[in-house]
Amino acid sequence: MGTHMTGGRLLHGGDYNPEQWLERPEILEEDIILMKEAGINCVTLGVFSWSMLEPEEGRYDFAWLAERIDRLYENGIQVILATPSGAMPHWLTQKYPEVMQVQEDEKRNLPGLRHNFCYTSPVMREKIRRMDLELSRRFGKHSAVILWHISNELGGNWGDGACHCEQCQSAFREWLRQKYHTLEELNHAWWNRFWSHVYTDWEQIHSPAPHGEALSHGLKLDWKRFVTEQMTDFCRGEIYAVRKYSNRPVTTNFMDFFKNLNYHRLQSCLNVISWDSYPQWHASKDEVPAAVRAAAGHSMMRSMKKQPFLLMESTPSCVNWRSFNPVKRPGMHMLSSMQAIAHGSDSVLYFQWRKSRGAYEKFHGAVVDHRNGGAARTFREVSEVGERLAAVQGLIEGTVNRPGAAIVFDWENWWALEDASGPRLDLDYVSEVLKHYQVFWEQGVDVDFVSMDEAFESYRIVCAPVNYLYRKGYAERVRAYVESGSCYVSTWFSGVADDTDLCFTGHHPLEDVLGILPEEIDAPGEGFENGFVYQGAHYSTGRICEIVHAAADTQVLAAYEQDFYAGCPAVARHSFGQGTGYYVAAETGLDFLRAFYQELLSEAGLHSPLGVPLPYGVTTAVRSGEREIVFVMNFRQENVSLQGIGDWEDAETGEICRDRLELGGFSLKMIRRKGA
Ligand code: GAL
Repeated sequence: MGTHMTGGRLLHGGDYNPEQWLERPEILEEDIILMKEAGINCVTLGVFSWSMLEPEEGRYDFAWLAERIDRLYENGIQVILATPSGAMPHWLTQKYPEVMQVQEDEKRNLPGLRHNFCYTSPVMREKIRRMDLELSRRFGKHSAVILWHISNELGGNWGDGACHCEQCQSAFREWLRQKYHTLEELNHAWWNRFWSHVYTDWEQIHSPAPHGEALSHGLKLDWKRFVTEQMTDFCRGEIYAVRKYSNRPVTTNFMDFFKNLNYHRLQSCLNVISWDSYPQWHASKDEVPAAVRAAAGHSMMRSMKKQPFLLMESTPSCVNWRSFNPVKRPGMHMLSSMQAIAHGSDSVLYFQWRKSRGAYEKFHGAVVDHRNGGAARTFREVSEVGERLAAVQGLIEGTVNRPGAAIVFDWENWWALEDASGPRLDLDYVSEVLKHYQVFWEQGVDVDFVSMDEAFESYRIVCAPVNYLYRKGYAERVRAYVESGSCYVSTWFSGVADDTDLCFTGHHPLEDVLGILPEEIDAPGEGFENGFVYQGAHYSTGRICEIVHAAADTQVLAAYEQDFYAGCPAVARHSFGQGTGYYVAAETGLDFLRAFYQELLSEAGLHSPLGVPLPYGVTTAVRSGEREIVFVMNFRQENVSLQGIGDWEDAETGEICRDRLELGGFSLKMIRRKGA
């Protein structure tokens, strides 16, 4: 999107629910005053407002919304307008129970909650279509409205987020027919002679359920694909409706590593990517795990379109849904907000502007609390963010992040890997991927996340941790990428199964590139510890040791020390064409990955722009356009001093940093090359 959509502004604001306060005009008036004080320039309206926008079927009441939009606009505040499908009004569920989801156990939900509509239901689709058309007709060209926010956190319900009603089952069967054409094809793809599961009639197929077919991996994988397609289709229906009278771009808010929906598919129907980020700050004194996960989320969202994204929700203070909910310590709000900007966000938006008086989120952090209005610490820190964003938007305008490294993160791999039923049942794709990401983060090297379908050519190094599933054509593209001179890292349990989770027989699909021949995969129990020596240092292996053999021209960089596979490669390097393939055969810890990637990054010429090793908790990210801005972030509570970095200029203050940079605890500086 870029700041052009917002007239060059970095957006600052968030979810605003005036409908909860319509009887309190003094509160609504105070909102405007406080928003201006806090440097708020954009709010999101209408996310859960259906019952107030259509109090009874077919009777629309937009007066309160129109009044608010006008009032905000008069005060220079732009609006992201949401469609209200995230929560259904009671008149709707009462009259048309079919709009409520059916759970895996085939029980229909009772009314209430949110994010629990059936996305197949023609009634639901028609009711929301009418609402969206009305909203579009009424507000779609309003100068205040800059963006449509479709629904809320699609798929974000309990369980698999899916609806299992009869209409969804039929749609699933139809989707399967389109995909496989014949039952013979489908039976083969899902390996259905196993346990006598051969289908002879399409009607025999049911969605996965704990008390039904819970163990057919092919079925489960296709069901997840179908759920994504159906949800995307629902979203497209809403987009089509709001665009009827409006040319404003559309987004929907994504979530942190959200397994239920393949965002690489859903993103294709959106103009702008946005997401809701709620890192677990202050869970301990070590903020690095939270900082890494947040950075990875931002990087993921940016990578979706290789463009700036929007931080749609974040908390100004605490959340209310973890077992304990610390408030952000002084400085953390500024740091975490600017961290989003550093990794490519063009906004800092919050959930929520004002705490509701009652109901589930009354203790969730907000810019304005029940008491103390503009006098509270949170409000002050939010205002400081507002001030800073306004001051730096000129520096950020037109810039994007262009990392030289990528990590393959693929939803289909995620689904298949964690459902593989071997070699361990507790494989955790996200934490394995985050281990690799953390090492880049510690080196101050930003990373894109790419799906298996994307072009790798703009990256000097691509790593694909636990890439179990290879989609058709993937191995060929990796082969061409390495051959032309790039570096590809693969790990244990990679290249095992195809699109429908059928294991490859014969060779590993990238055997020639990686120079390894996998033979067995061991998940050793306690007392069977293993390890290896890499570049003179000893590392322990984790809970998976793949037993592979090296091809004649493969360089074994480290070999297992123990057990019957002592001497087999634990880490291998293989030249292929102009490039190199690496194989890490054992699960390893951060200690090994640090040493390993340090070597690869320096070979690839990738390093932090500061050119020096960064202390633990400190990282960098770069946004470049006509000029290059380097963000230096300190997630430690203590001050740090970085030396030997060459001469820089503080991009905000103009202060010259001669070969050193001082950073306070929980702080961020934006610097550029002196004279740039
Ligand atoms: C988000 C949701 C918001 C609010 C927030 C609380 O997931 O979109 O409506 O509930 O969480 O953290």
